[in-house]
Amino acid sequence: MKFFIDTANLKEIEDARSLGILDGVTTNPSLISKESVSNKEEIKDHYISICNLLKDEENLSAEIISNNYEEMIQEGEKLSILHPRIVVKVPMTYNGIKAIKYFSSKNIRTNCTLIFSTGQALVAAKVGADYISPFIGRIDDVSYDGLNLIKEIKKIYDSYHFKTKILGASIRHSLHIIECSKIGIHAITSPIKIIHSLIYHPLTNIGLEKFLTDYKRKIK
Ligand code: E4P
Repeated sequence: MKFFIDTANLKEIEDARSLGILDGVTTNPSLISKESVSNKEEIKDHYISICNLLKDEENLSAEIISNNYEEMIQEGEKLSILHPRIVVKVPMTYNGIKAIKYFSSKNIRTNCTLIFSTGQALVAAKVGADYISPFIGRIDDVSYDGLNLIKEIKKIYDSYHFKTKILGASIRHSLHIIECSKIGIHAITSPIKIIHSLIYHPLTNIGLEKFLTDYKRKIK
């Protein structure tokens, strides 16, 4: 399973790189607003800086902020030529679906975001989205089962051999990642701190401490 990092922060991306687990980056307007950017030109430069940290097949999902169809097309086309690693992130709306269909016909890669139902996932795949981002944590937040949505989408996509990749998003804790890997989806996108939490286990710490204490007691 691929590990994307859900951030616009360059240090976090470098951290994921040094850890050896980086497969790509996803951003959204809220994440961008946390960085030191204050206008569209600075945002473009920031996207380029992120892309310059990536290599091989890794890509960056950069989200369009327009709702109007023509503006979505203009914005997506500009993003797609900004850097070859950019995947245009398009919200799951009526105009968003039309825009994904258009981008797909122009070989511009897309990530359909804000997916909360199987119907939305089905339509996004029909129009040729390269990725969909179902928001697991935000579904759990309103007392539904985010992971069950992932299972259902996987079943539908497998049945019809859709090429659209499922990118499990809105990850809140390590169990979300583990369960996504058991379901067998292509990728998750997670805050780096949740990736870190996969590494730690109290029994590992206790075990290591005992090994070192035993060693130091005997070995001079
Ligand atoms: C997806 O690509 C989004 O950026 C993200 O996963 C949303 O997560 P949140 O619900 O923690 O904001």
